[in-house]
Amino acid sequence: MPGLRAPSDYSGEPPRHPCLRINSKEPFNAEPPRSLLISSYLTPADFFYKRNHGPVPIIDNIERYFISISALIEKPRQLWMKDIRILPKYNVAATLQCAGNRRTAMSKNKVVKGVGWGVSAIGNAVWSGAKLADVLELVGIPKLTSITQPGGKHVEFVSIDKCKEENGGPYKVSIPLDQATNPDADVLLAYEMNGEPLNRDHGYPLRVVVPGVIGARSVKWLDSINIIAEESQGFFMQKDYKMFPPSVNWENINWATRRPQMDFPVQVKISGYAVAGGGRGIETVDVSVDGGRTWLEASRFQKSGIPYVADDANSDKWAWVLFEITVDILHSTEIIAKAVDSAANVQPQQVEDIWNLRGILNTSWHRVHVQAGHSNM
Ligand code: MTE
Repeated sequence: MPGLRAPSDYSGEPPRHPCLRINSKEPFNAEPPRSLLISSYLTPADFFYKRNHGPVPIIDNIERYFISISALIEKPRQLWMKDIRILPKYNVAATLQCAGNRRTAMSKNKVVKGVGWGVSAIGNAVWSGAKLADVLELVGIPKLTSITQPGGKHVEFVSIDKCKEENGGPYKVSIPLDQATNPDADVLLAYEMNGEPLNRDHGYPLRVVVPGVIGARSVKWLDSINIIAEESQGFFMQKDYKMFPPSVNWENINWATRRPQMDFPVQVKISGYAVAGGGRGIETVDVSVDGGRTWLEASRFQKSGIPYVADDANSDKWAWVLFEITVDILHSTEIIAKAVDSAANVQPQQVEDIWNLRGILNTSWHRVHVQAGHSNM
């Protein structure tokens, strides 16, 4: 695509912060240490996890960068950065989380396939850009549309990076048209992260952010948007990021029997974050220091306004909650944390119950063994 180039090797990768823990070098997949992750409500871009499936695209000439939008039979429309920047700019606080977060812990139970992740394939940022609903309206698709005239029901995002899973083709996934055209779903074509232009790892110059949904749907380095009749047939939609029961293995798997994973479920990390997908808030975070017999309610960090975001009751609905509790630990024990979301969803108790061959969505109660002493979580 003019303006951006997708390299086939890793000689032109951007610089990265040395504190990141590298889970795979090529493609680059890395996460921050957990203490750093929860030290601030907004995760600085340097410490934000990076999840790439190929070499990071190189910007040749940003002046020549545009995206194309095609709607079934219509001729594709080209939109330049200036066309997108002219639309109202929205600042949305949203937590992005990889579906493979905590995969390493799932593998301890029974080995799963995929890049191993600790607990930090997650981050919280203010994303700024145009709402996808406004962009689609610009090309003639009204707000709150669930089907277009020629039968379009899904919105596919196509990138330019070369992924081996797509046999060297681009990363692509889709979301339903009714979500894409709903201004309240806050789906963005974002050009800023925490008030700065996106950096190369996070999708410069333009990425999709689909709040409340697994990170795989937030396509970086956007190249084109297609309105299509069926879900995207891309690998990351059809052959990955699907949740199967523990009985399914690589011999008996039938990918077509499950729908692609969208919302991420309720979950919590022992040392301090809780997040629910689909825009549902966290009602409570309960902590047990006696292996689950009794529970204490943790307190949330006071939210004193999120930078760049209007301060109303809904401003943090896509974002995580940081929690805090001080407990006396009298003897060595297991500390457990679990969250409840506003729809009363609770986390599953055991990782065994949700084990799945791709090792995604490990939302089980987080358990940490501690030695006697005073502990801050
Ligand atoms: N978009 C493109 N073009 N290529 C990718 O490899 N990875 C996806 C998503 N968008 C990916 C992509 C996955 S699986 C996740 S979890 C998020 O981007 C990670 O975004 P981040 O690297 O900005 O944290």
